[in-house]
Amino acid sequence: MKGKTDKPGFFDIINERRSVRIFDQESEFDHAVVQKCLEAAVLAPNSSNMQLWEFYRVPESSKLKAPLSRLCMGQKAATTARELVVIVTRRKLWKIRAKANLAYIRECYKDSDPKKQKRAMSYYRNLVPKFYAKYPFWSVVKQVIAWFVGLNRPMVRQVSGCDVRVSLHKSAALAAMTFMYGMQAEGYDTCPMEGFDSKRVKKLLNLPKDAEINMIIGCGKGLPEGVYGRRFRVANEEVIFEK
Ligand SMILES: Cc1cc2nc3c(=O)[nH]c(=O)nc-3n(C[C@H](O)[C@H](O)[C@H](O)COP(=O)(O)O)c2cc1C
Repeated sequence: MKGKTDKPGFFDIINERRSVRIFDQESEFDHAVVQKCLEAAVLAPNSSNMQLWEFYRVPESSKLKAPLSRLCMGQKAATTARELVVIVTRRKLWKIRAKANLAYIRECYKDSDPKKQKRAMSYYRNLVPKFYAKYPFWSVVKQVIAWFVGLNRPMVRQVSGCDVRVSLHKSAALAAMTFMYGMQAEGYDTCPMEGFDSKRVKKLLNLPKDAEINMIIGCGKGLPEGVYGRRFRVANEEVIFEK
């Protein structure tokens, strides 16, 4: 381990994190660390700071843990996890979050340039609703508007209903990553999963209709046999380019 202290540095954490599929059932697991790492995860960057995410903790003591593990297709990463964290996107909360951002801007900019405040307020009052609201045919209308505007100047093209979902999932995934690095820094292992029955998980957790599950993360102290082989990545030259 490098660095001036015994604590792993940022790049040690990145290198040491692996998706671990079998967790130790015997060693102590501090569930408070999950809470701590989720509180760090919400500091992840997210689109327009709308924070359209939710995190559901399902510890081993929960009666939902076993059925939820089964809905993760019975993967060992779920059945042996000491806690499962379900990361969820919540598009429908956009009005509430826009309001919260407006209140924050009002407070934050109260002693500064009123023009700056007006611009920031206008973003949440005018642009944000156009992106997140749902009306019949609105997705197509937005795309047509973007296409026309884009004829004359640079324009954000990712405005369809699907693009909104992608945007929500991008932000949720960044929180998921922050959470996993947090757990690694605290000496625990994780396994992100998208192999689950989303429809049944939604029902089991009684999630709202608009909720979409981004991923489910198994947490615990990994066993050596829970790491399936040495790490593999394609050559950097195949994925990193300079233009
Ligand atoms: C979005 C996402 C979904 C994943 N789903 C699963 C899964 O359902 N089951 C599983 O065992 N691993 C899953 N993984 C873990 C990947 O297989 C793993 O990250 C990849 O093989 C690289 O290995 P590493 O994480 O150890 O570096 C998932 C990872 C991500 C990011």
